Amino acid sequence: MKLIIAENYNEGSRKIADLFEAVIAEKKDAFLGLATGSTPEGMYKCLAEDFNAGKVDFSEVHTINLDEYLGPDRSHPQSFGYFMDKHLFSKVNIKQENIMLVDGAGKAEDEIKKYDSRLGEEPIDILILGIGENGHIGFNEPADFFVAGTHITELAEETIQANSRFFENIEDVPQKAVTMGMAGITNAKKIVLAAFGKKKAGAIKKLLSDDKVSPKLPCSILKLCRDVTIVVDKELYRCIENE
Ligand code: GLP
Repeated sequence: MKLIIAENYNEGSRKIADLFEAVIAEKKDAFLGLATGSTPEGMYKCLAEDFNAGKVDFSEVHTINLDEYLGPDRSHPQSFGYFMDKHLFSKVNIKQENIMLVDGAGKAEDEIKKYDSRLGEEPIDILILGIGENGHIGFNEPADFFVAGTHITELAEETIQANSRFFENIEDVPQKAVTMGMAGITNAKKIVLAAFGKKKAGAIKKLLSDDKVSPKLPCSILKLCRDVTIVVDKELYRCIENE
């Protein structure tokens, strides 16, 4: 795993956007794996800016998102589909039919089949991952085992707490989600794991501190993947060093 220590969030976001654009430049119909949350907002901003500047073209690009809450549909402001429309899809020339999202209001089994069949067609070319404070990736929470396929997952208490900042009341945070499993994630040809700020330092420190792979720290499965770049900022890195 390669580690990039960026000066700050903006520089880290720029570096990630550049990695994505390099893949699209090589393969105009690249299959991108996308994440939501505050971490990738900056990279989406860079991608939209570069699209406006004519530096990147999304007309042939295909995407798949990592996860979605069960319940809200794409028009719900807290759904991940809404987030993607707002931060990326409405700002670039991607075709609607090339976007794959979980419909949180749909029948979960159908959504799962749709995802696994798409992931079975081809591996993701480049995947951006954020990380939970507990080390989750997508919504693959710490557990006794890894789940390979797309599946329904119960959110961990700490994830509900962390994500409640996007909702008016903590009771409004959905308790279940559909997430891509570890097969879809680990089969990606290139993976970028991004973590900024001190809150994520604990998870990244655990990830880097040994050579173990454990479902108790879901991100540790990335140690089995061929091409992983971890992008952190100096604020996070200082915390790791000083602890
Ligand atoms: C959410 C998502 C993850 C994301 C993580 C971190 O629960 N399911 O895919 O990486 O939390 O979010 P943030 O970037 O807002 O810290």
